[in-house]
Amino acid sequence: MVYICESRVRNAKSKCQQISGTLILAVLTAVLGSFQYGYSIGVINAPQKVIEAHYRLVLHGFQNESLVSSESTVSVHQSVTMYWSLSVSVFSIGGMFSSFLVGWVAETLGRVKGMLAINILAIFGSLLMGLAKFGPAHIMVIAGRTVLGLYCGLSSGLVPMYVGEISPTAYRGAFGTLHQLAIVTGILISQVIGLDFLLGNESLWPILLGLSGAPAILQIVLLLLCPESPVISTSNLGRSKKKLRGGQDITQDLAEMNNEKEEAKKQKKVSVGQLIIRPTYRQPLIVALMLHLSQQLSGINAIFYYSTGIFASAGVRQPVYTTIGVGAINWIFTLISVLLVDRAGRRRLILIGLVGMCLCAVVMTVGLTLAVSTTLPWMSYLSIAAIFLFVSLFEIGPGPIPWFFVAELFNQGPRPAAIALAGFCNWASNFLIGLCFPHIEALCGSYVFVIFAVLLFFFALFTYCKVPETKGKSFEEIAAEFRKKKLTKLSGAQAVTEMEHLGGSSDA
Ligand code: GLC
Repeated sequence: MVYICESRVRNAKSKCQQISGTLILAVLTAVLGSFQYGYSIGVINAPQKVIEAHYRLVLHGFQNESLVSSESTVSVHQSVTMYWSLSVSVFSIGGMFSSFLVGWVAETLGRVKGMLAINILAIFGSLLMGLAKFGPAHIMVIAGRTVLGLYCGLSSGLVPMYVGEISPTAYRGAFGTLHQLAIVTGILISQVIGLDFLLGNESLWPILLGLSGAPAILQIVLLLLCPESPVISTSNLGRSKKKLRGGQDITQDLAEMNNEKEEAKKQKKVSVGQLIIRPTYRQPLIVALMLHLSQQLSGINAIFYYSTGIFASAGVRQPVYTTIGVGAINWIFTLISVLLVDRAGRRRLILIGLVGMCLCAVVMTVGLTLAVSTTLPWMSYLSIAAIFLFVSLFEIGPGPIPWFFVAELFNQGPRPAAIALAGFCNWASNFLIGLCFPHIEALCGSYVFVIFAVLLFFFALFTYCKVPETKGKSFEEIAAEFRKKKLTKLSGAQAVTEMEHLGGSSDA
């Protein structure tokens, strides 16, 4: 009872905390990394035709497919398509690999120096792509996308970790959602400047791809002004917090952070292997992985990677502009989520999003099926509206929340390993969707979204039954709730072993 009252008072106090200039600078600087991630997702869509034409020139000596003799058409087409799909998918392979190293980088270098160091990858990858026309373009683009994928795999873990750790509890959701807001801003900007009359044309596409790393230069400069996460700046916990909270009374905040530090000292560092086998972490780990799976297996990237084709089959005459429309809606609803997440709560927003997306997937299927098989042209409008709504609902909860939720579910001991594992899960399922969607679509036609509807229903059910609310709770309070649940379920001997591993803190 006392515990609950204290917690309420603390929440009320922390709501009053002022957000300092340093905190805003630190968050905006960090999410420049997320912006680069979004840019890299979106940039490859619009200039596909011109880059393929250039590959054809480099590989076979001509740009225009119509100049090829009919016997060689198939092999030319196949090799260009192969290099193109590799250019798209190596990005996720790079991300999948490096996301596993997030914990190691965060522990060895710290959050700020870690973000600083990985910018070398962003700059190197961008240079490879920006200079593609001076060498074998297909190889340079593939190499550049791989290196940029390595960068994004690391930054998509480090950014939410740092932002979560420096944010006041009351605003942790809103700041955490800024990671996704920066991603969708990157997607939107790359879609717009990728239009053929801007940079998505024959002569300027290398600049379009090369710009992916431009924010890295700005981030390098700004990171020099950002304080290290109070979680790891052991010697200067007070000074670091003071900087982040401006002139505010940080006594309560410091006490919370000290408490976390004490807990962390008692806890041993947790490796990925230990995270998987220890019963105490099982429940939060399953929740973390399922949320990342639900983000990707919702089918969102089937829309982002292949929307132009989907809109064309729904009868849209200028599908590129409709795709930009999706990017804009995506942006607006992520902004709405920033405003809602600390009021409505994470669990509720994820649930609303998943259930709504499930219904939209059903409507999309009906619309797309009837639009092709009957004389009901308005059905195509129905499916377009369903696609827009699908994306909006994704950004309300299932899109942004998993990114920062993992950092909330684990305290400092297991956090880096948990973020690494969840990030790997995200990138692997992203890769799988990118790879399989065209084949599944070829098999199932307009029924392809039924698969996503079933998955979404399952994830909504899981969220309803298993996902806890973390709004307004400190990291320690959240971890303690899981510990308590698990320890009461374990037999006496098992509970003792677990408590020993956790450093004797069963309290909590
Ligand atoms: C999330 C996903 C990413 C997706 C984006 C769309 O950040 O992780 O794969 O493309 O949302 O907004």
